[in-house]
Amino acid sequence: MKVKNHSYGNYDAVSISHISLDLSVDFDAKSIKGSAELSIDNHGKAKEIILDHRDMIIESTEVDGRKVGFKTGDYDSILGAALLIPIAEASKKVKVFYHTKPEAAALQWLNPAQTNDKKAPFLFSQSQAILARTWIPLMDAPAIRFTYEARVKVPKELMALMSANNPTEKSADGTYTFKQTNPIPSYLMAISAGDLAFKSLGRNSGVYAEPGYLEKCAWEFADLQRMIDSAEELYGPYRWGRYDVLVLPPSFPFGGMENPELTFATPTIIAGDRSLVSLVAHELAHSWSGNLVTNETWNDFWLNEGFTVYFEQRIMEKIYGQPYAEMQAALARGELQRTVDELLVDAEEDTRLYLDLDGRDPDEGVSDIAYEKGRFFLRSIEKVVGRPQWDAFVKEYFSQHAFQTMTTKRFLDYLDRALLSKNPDWKDKVKAEEWIYKPGLPGNIEIVHSTELDKVEEDVKLFAGPGAVAAFNPQGYTTHHWLYFLRRLPRIDLATVQALDDKFHFSQSGNSEILCDWFQVAIRYNYSESYPQLRAFLAHVGRRKFLLPLYKALASTPDGKKLAREIFEASKAGYHSVATNTLQDLLYGAQE
Ligand code: BES
Ligand code: ZN
Repeated sequence: MKVKNHSYGNYDAVSISHISLDLSVDFDAKSIKGSAELSIDNHGKAKEIILDHRDMIIESTEVDGRKVGFKTGDYDSILGAALLIPIAEASKKVKVFYHTKPEAAALQWLNPAQTNDKKAPFLFSQSQAILARTWIPLMDAPAIRFTYEARVKVPKELMALMSANNPTEKSADGTYTFKQTNPIPSYLMAISAGDLAFKSLGRNSGVYAEPGYLEKCAWEFADLQRMIDSAEELYGPYRWGRYDVLVLPPSFPFGGMENPELTFATPTIIAGDRSLVSLVAHELAHSWSGNLVTNETWNDFWLNEGFTVYFEQRIMEKIYGQPYAEMQAALARGELQRTVDELLVDAEEDTRLYLDLDGRDPDEGVSDIAYEKGRFFLRSIEKVVGRPQWDAFVKEYFSQHAFQTMTTKRFLDYLDRALLSKNPDWKDKVKAEEWIYKPGLPGNIEIVHSTELDKVEEDVKLFAGPGAVAAFNPQGYTTHHWLYFLRRLPRIDLATVQALDDKFHFSQSGNSEILCDWFQVAIRYNYSESYPQLRAFLAHVGRRKFLLPLYKALASTPDGKKLAREIFEASKAGYHSVATNTLQDLLYGAQE
């Protein structure tokens, strides 16, 4: 069976313009049941339409209201299998009746104990990159866009939400209808159901969370409307109507996911001091970079994420000022270097912006390269051409390609044509080809300088020998200062680790980013006093960005690996498959 860009879909011959879903959510069976009706155009005179599907049972298929047989191809553990349905040249509607299996990789079914309020079960989806096919039979490649509508039935004490126009109150009978009138790629299909409530935060923004958590979340996101307004000032109108955030239970495997009209977010950004809200700026920025102009294949993933990190930081700079943005950039520069150094050892080709993920799980392309190397590339163009020219270019880029896909090659052509050709020196200075196709980091990468973090650098220098902790009285430290401090800490001894914890109570921090960095220090020095908190954190939080470095740090010694496996076995039932797959590889090797 032919595979192109991780999909079996024959989209060159048959296009899908709209999907109509009729679904019911069954928590007892851990299954979504119902039908998906695809509006198609068989312009290539194909004898059949080929869809992607995985982890689901196909019950029956219809074409224009008449029942037809279907066939399925060989099953691949990453891609699933092709679903072949015979069609005629004039066929317009293909309807698939199906139900998902409990192990459907996009879906996580939570029992009440895994939620904040502990009262009701919870369901959420995560479709990116190629998991939409585990809950909807469709052509699962980002190059294909369609509008959708849905009727969703959930238990009547729950509210259902999707990546579409959403209710603000529960319905009487648990039935909800949705419409997404902008054409979107499959990886932006999303659904959630739980005991949820809504609070407005501004003209077109708001937050959904469990009732007992709603006020805290609303407080944290007080600047949301300003973020939207700033984003529009930078790069043009917000094209999606509302922008709301859904705060999920802690097992959500990512920080955030840019589902249209409704960002899905981890509760680990609710720090109580608004210090981690840049994540929301990031997901909001995807409303332009990604959701409006979409990477055509997962090899072009940097176009989504690099642009988004760049845009996110511009929003943050606008609202919180230059020193804040500099701290963010300096921290990111450190992480990027670590990632590049690590990958250069045995996966050099994955340090290029343009990736080669054919035959691989696209999840392997998710690294700081797409995000931070991508961001630094765009930043270097800004430096060469100047901010006004660059901003005008980006705004035009989004507007010219709205609701279309983009490849790396077409982007480079457009960049040359619309920007670099305006000045004879620019092309040579930017070195776009080197950034995109060569491994490592080009010499013209910006040298980041943060005056705020210079202060931390001074503090860290004095950090040697006994008494250092007593003499260390940091002034004006924010979350970002602490993160830098923990990452720059020189070699110390166990007693100093203990003294730091006694003085600053890191192990008890309510800030997940600080906790994650602190636990890495604790593991390095075998500071077992913080292990109960470490265990509790690993049992409670399912965000892969935290789990991975912590399990990695533990697994670096034989005793630690034993402990890591033990904690993993005790906690994995609460993790999403996206996280378990990665950790399974780390702790037991890919083969087992
Ligand atoms: N779209 C991504 C999440 C994603 C990427 C899911 C690839 C599956 C495959 C989202 O916008 C994202 O980048 N999330 C980050 C947030 C961060 C960089 C601020 C995350 O989850 O950590
Ligand atoms: Zn992103």
